[in-house]
Amino acid sequence: MRCEPACDMPCQIRFAPREVLLQCEPGAFVMPEPLFNRIAVIGLGLIGGSFAAAARKNGLAASIVAGSRSARTLEQGIALGVVDEGSQDLAEAVKGADLVFVSTPVSAMGKVLSALKPGLSRTAIITDGGSVKGNVITAARESLGEHVSRFVPGHPIAGKEKSGVGAADADLYRDHRVILTPTEATDPAATARVRAIWTAMGAEVLQMAPDYHDQVLAETSHLPHLLAFSLVDTLARQGDSTEIFRYAAGGFRDFTRIASSDPLMWHDIFRENKAALLQSLDLFSDGISRFRQAVSDDDSDALMGIMTRANSARAHFMAMNGRTSYTRAHHSGDDTTMTDSSNANPTFVVTPGGRLTGRVRVPGDKSMSHRSIMLGSLAEGVTRVEGFLEGEDALATLQAFRDMGVVIEGPHNGQVTIHGVGLLGLKAPGKPLYMGNSGTSMRLLTGLLAGQAFDVELTGDASLSKRPMERVARPLRDMGAQITTGNEGRPPVRIRGGQPLKGIHYDLPMASAQVKSAVLLGGLYAEGETSVTEPAPTRDHTERMLGGFGYDVRRDGATSALTGGGTLTACKLEVPADISSAAFFLVGASIAEGSELTLPHVGINPTRTGVIDILKLMGADIRLENQRDAGGEPVADIVVKSAPLKGIDIPEELVPLAIDEFPAIFIAAACAEGDTILRGAEELRVKESDRIQVMADGLAALGVDHEVFEDGIRISGGPFAGGEIQSHGDHRIAMSFAMASLRASGPITINDCANVATSFPGFAQLAAHAGLNLEVK
Ligand code: S3P
Repeated sequence: MRCEPACDMPCQIRFAPREVLLQCEPGAFVMPEPLFNRIAVIGLGLIGGSFAAAARKNGLAASIVAGSRSARTLEQGIALGVVDEGSQDLAEAVKGADLVFVSTPVSAMGKVLSALKPGLSRTAIITDGGSVKGNVITAARESLGEHVSRFVPGHPIAGKEKSGVGAADADLYRDHRVILTPTEATDPAATARVRAIWTAMGAEVLQMAPDYHDQVLAETSHLPHLLAFSLVDTLARQGDSTEIFRYAAGGFRDFTRIASSDPLMWHDIFRENKAALLQSLDLFSDGISRFRQAVSDDDSDALMGIMTRANSARAHFMAMNGRTSYTRAHHSGDDTTMTDSSNANPTFVVTPGGRLTGRVRVPGDKSMSHRSIMLGSLAEGVTRVEGFLEGEDALATLQAFRDMGVVIEGPHNGQVTIHGVGLLGLKAPGKPLYMGNSGTSMRLLTGLLAGQAFDVELTGDASLSKRPMERVARPLRDMGAQITTGNEGRPPVRIRGGQPLKGIHYDLPMASAQVKSAVLLGGLYAEGETSVTEPAPTRDHTERMLGGFGYDVRRDGATSALTGGGTLTACKLEVPADISSAAFFLVGASIAEGSELTLPHVGINPTRTGVIDILKLMGADIRLENQRDAGGEPVADIVVKSAPLKGIDIPEELVPLAIDEFPAIFIAAACAEGDTILRGAEELRVKESDRIQVMADGLAALGVDHEVFEDGIRISGGPFAGGEIQSHGDHRIAMSFAMASLRASGPITINDCANVATSFPGFAQLAAHAGLNLEVK
């Protein structure tokens, strides 16, 4: 074999991709070293053949050899150009190979490894593609002797209906997952090399403990296959199966599709993964008995509970495949780490110009959506919610209550029905509650769970895991709660159940609605009165909504108080559009000449309208129309027209009332004439990102003059360029810079935008509809 085009350079790669070789001009291009010199693939079926084909296509080995008991298979592999040579003698096949990939059936692994061992070179790395890991590792320990430290157990989660080397596909592993399960004995350098080759084939590599792999696969793959085989067999056994199947429709076909899989292969897998499979079968038997019981007892609540939980879990699974943020669930455990190496995360590319016009209904208020689920769950009776935000943060709260046994229907088009369980009706969740990116969920739940009878652990994503939690743990401990936080007071938060709480008075050290709410929610479970005094007004949705559920909250200036042990009564709730989401459009329409936008039904609770006050001080043209009351919260249609803005000193008392809107306000400041100065806003440093620094970095990328202070920023308005922005996974940073494009002189690229879905699902479409030149990549 020769390079294409042939050249005189000393060249290690004989089979590099054509694009690489075409660049190979003597003196102009240095050929990269292939990852491996010689790869031996043992067992040349679909999995092994595709591995060889992918290695070849991507230039990952200088030569590829196959080992197989079948001379025909070897001939076929060579004829197809998948491998260079082959041997029926496995020890012969692996001679000189620096990587050996074993893709024979798992039940044959012991024999195969013993047969190839005599030919292994001292430094060869061995890996495999078996779908059961515990038994394969045992076989490797028994067969490989001193080579076992370089055995890296692996499992590519990919396949096709067709089998054999004839079906080999160089792209089979692209965008598929490969799980590696190294043990303590595995050399990390060998694992890194195996990870590198799978990554180079386009796969996403995860790592986990072998037992965990076998358990997960038993539950998510082996059990469903067993059930499909079993259902078809069970029905087929009853008399004339052709008769029943005549009436079987789509449901039967969908459920049993996998019963057409290769019986021999599954026979092997069921036997090799016996222990984990039996365990998951027992788990399933318990589930099916509960289902049976609910049907036999006519227990409508229990039935709805099972099915709504299943619905939401499946939606979660589908979204996970679509890769949004909350659902990029992260697993952590003592013996298990799961590393998601995927970087599938949308980028916004926004081209300059445009103006915003028309009517834009932004999604429901995030703060109120969280609280509607919390209080609805703890109420007596059925609460119906309209306008619920179907964003990932609010869904994290919803899922947490489902995990604690609350039956919640929806959300469907913003409607949620919550079957309240009463203040004492929550049940211990089976696993830690995962709060995704949502600080509100974690902090408010810490308060609400401090007085429960059960232990619970709260975890979050990478951003949430860096945020301070002692601010809620401290006052709750004063009330008698037992709470521990992680490193430096960050998540995970662990709460010990069964602790009697007593009411306290708490003077909030910072203006935080989350801390205020956590203490008040803890107070529902405390003996006597709990009261909080805030240093400056913060959003009061908790107080208002508790009132809506018939709970007496006494308010006196900066102090709110309640007495524990009361009852919440179910009610109807209407969540207005979120002023924090409207803020991007208020700024966008203000800065883009010729804009006129109406934002209907936005919540204008006075503890939230700081953004309107600040923009008006800067000269914005904003009008509130049709002001009315919606279930205890004031709402209005907001009309905004473009206007020339000027820089201002932002009054400090407005800071807590606009706390989430500063990223958008900074963009307004960059478009204003003169300097805008913000002080007293150190809280911005502990939001989803350090919003002072991350915004400053973004402004710098666009060439906006500014000066950072510990507690704020000075921004000098003027013309600015396009550029590349790192949002650091902060939804509000991403959306703010999208609006900046309306005045930039070049395109703005914003990376890491998955988390926009936490507060504003559908932002890109809505913004584009209103006139922003936004493309999602
Ligand atoms: C929120 C309170 C604020 C705000 C957050 C939502 C709430 O946080 O930033 O987005 O719903 O109570 P702090 O209490 O930390 O200021």
